[in-house]
Amino acid sequence: MQPDEKIMARLKPGCICQGIKLYRLLAAIDSGAKTFAEVARITGIGDGDCGGKRCRAKVEDLLRRDRLKKE
Ligand code: FES
Repeated sequence: MQPDEKIMARLKPGCICQGIKLYRLLAAIDSGAKTFAEVARITGIGDGDCGGKRCRAKVEDLLRRDRLKKE
């Protein structure tokens, strides 16, 4: 990730309900999380008012991109 992207990830929301920034989701994936459940366990996302409806799609897209990057 480029320095500008890291700065933006610190500002962008990852899980709006829990107030968790995108950067924390990316850090969980970088540390080895492979599923939404694993990212949720590490970061605490998914238990907000929406029950993960908003952040699940974002995390699944990030996981898909991570898998493609590693192929
Ligand atoms: S946006 Fe993550 S639980 Fe609602």
